[in-house]
Amino acid sequence: MPVRQDWVAGLDLADQACIEEALSLVRDADTDGVLAGLAKLTKYQRYSVASHCAFSHAAVLVCPDSTADLVAGLRAQGLAVDDPSPSVVVRERLSRRHGVPVSALNVAIVHIHVPEAGDGDRIVELFALETPPGSGLAGIAARERVERNESHLGLNVDEPDEVAVAGLRALLVDEGGLAADGGGYNSVEDCTVLYFRRIDGDGQFAHAYPQHRLELRLSGRCETQLAAHQAATLDDPARELLELMTGAWTTQAIAVAAELGLADHLPGPAAAPPVSVDELASRLGADRDGLSRLLRYLASLRLVTSFGDSYTLTALGEPLRHDARSSLRPLALMYGGVFYQSFSALAHAVRTGQQGFEWLLGQGHFEYFKERPPLAALFDAAMAASAPMFDPVAGLVDFTDARVVVDIAGGTGELLGQLLQHAPHLRGVLFERSHVLTRARQRLADVGCADRCDFVAGDFTDFVPEGGDIYVLSRILHDWDDQQCAEILRHCAASMPAGARLLLVERLLPTDGTSSLAVPWDLHMLCNVGGRERTAGHYEHLLEEAGFSLDSVTRLPLDGNLLQAHRTTQPGQA
Ligand SMILES: C[S@@+](CC[C@H](N)C(=O)[O-])C[C@H]1O[C@@H](n2cnc3c(N)ncnc32)[C@H](O)[C@@H]1O
Repeated sequence: MPVRQDWVAGLDLADQACIEEALSLVRDADTDGVLAGLAKLTKYQRYSVASHCAFSHAAVLVCPDSTADLVAGLRAQGLAVDDPSPSVVVRERLSRRHGVPVSALNVAIVHIHVPEAGDGDRIVELFALETPPGSGLAGIAARERVERNESHLGLNVDEPDEVAVAGLRALLVDEGGLAADGGGYNSVEDCTVLYFRRIDGDGQFAHAYPQHRLELRLSGRCETQLAAHQAATLDDPARELLELMTGAWTTQAIAVAAELGLADHLPGPAAAPPVSVDELASRLGADRDGLSRLLRYLASLRLVTSFGDSYTLTALGEPLRHDARSSLRPLALMYGGVFYQSFSALAHAVRTGQQGFEWLLGQGHFEYFKERPPLAALFDAAMAASAPMFDPVAGLVDFTDARVVVDIAGGTGELLGQLLQHAPHLRGVLFERSHVLTRARQRLADVGCADRCDFVAGDFTDFVPEGGDIYVLSRILHDWDDQQCAEILRHCAASMPAGARLLLVERLLPTDGTSSLAVPWDLHMLCNVGGRERTAGHYEHLLEEAGFSLDSVTRLPLDGNLLQAHRTTQPGQA
């Protein structure tokens, strides 16, 4: 339909174009096309969503001088327009977004029927925010015209039972790259609406009209589905920011729980009965009131569950037990201890690009630990807690023709122990700083592999041992800047014959906006060692420069990755 200057009296031309665009979309688009434009779903995922719902409407917000004039003008165009009804959800959203009282906003819903579209009656839904001259709402109208916050495409859910809606929400958010964006119950139409919004690669809301918001429309009042959706929605930025700013309190509360050994005194989720605060306070030698307040906070973090004044441990809290496999207790103590202290130097690190740890504590992280044996032991235990990250590694590497695996800076030998247990024909070389080797010997003895392992003390900035078929650098390169990495890799290359393999275990920075522990750990590396997390491409470049060619990248637990490479004949030769 061509834009006509005199369509509706008192309607901005941009609003008029918006309505025309929505009308043609409703006539021409189908459910699959709508989903393809909005969400990052595969064909089969779209098919699955479309088997539960169908494209029903396109909605736009317009700002006429008068809703009555808008309706009259549309009807004069021969369009089938319902009488307006008051909007609840959009009116409240506008009020929150622009900080004006709800009473100052007159928002109506106007439906235009497009009977010839799709397999049934589709509609264009107009949210009409009345902005008569002199109302003071022109600024809001101008901003909404640019941001198009209320524009959306709507799907009607055929049978909105809890399971189907939970499945749709999970698919759209987890796979489709959409974020929950509020919703509500519309008593006039007796339907529940759930809004989703597309997120750009950088985590920002997209403003790509009309394909940036989706509405799922469920018939009737669906309290459970709405509550779950509201809970997942970023509704109040100030509240959310306040919660984020208390991250340091979370770190400390978990560290204090670890220090008290709280998890060791609570029954697990499946066990009974819960332990009372009185009992816990006497066992831990803690103040009853202080402990009960800590427990209430830990319950809000889902680490413990409260039964009145008694508590059990949740699955999330269980890794804090000192005897849990790969207990995270040492790491909790590190993050609440020396790394808590060193993070206060983050501003220095960000301003200068230099690590904050050394600037604050007078020594680099590895030297500092070396001179403080209890701290060094805690750090080594914290590193070994990542064993689940290593679990799949042995199964991903072909050891058939290998005889010797050299683990460069292998810590206490957690990974090397797993490789030697997996392939009994292998010998291992654990190359580490001397103070770490004592614990490594013990660890390899514990898993019955010490007799197949040589323990070599040294500094990888000087040399790495020769004679291996497979070399391992697990979570080493992220401790160092590119120049230092190049030096470490050159030493490896110098000790390796052409064809020898190199395994890297590292977290990788995502390039597609997906979330990864690599992002917060990158800041940790900057502040504490002056290193960095990198993308796969960055590692590939470092490897090539040093004479390696990257063969594969495989995901590991805890957001780790195994990068398998081999030594080429010359640096720079892939
Ligand atoms: C982050 S930990 C990784 C340990 C182990 N590879 C893992 O993934 O659990 C880094 C290790 O590098 C070792 N290291 C640091 N500087 C070193 C150097 N110059 N030469 C040899 N080892 C070093 C430390 O002792 C520490 O065990």
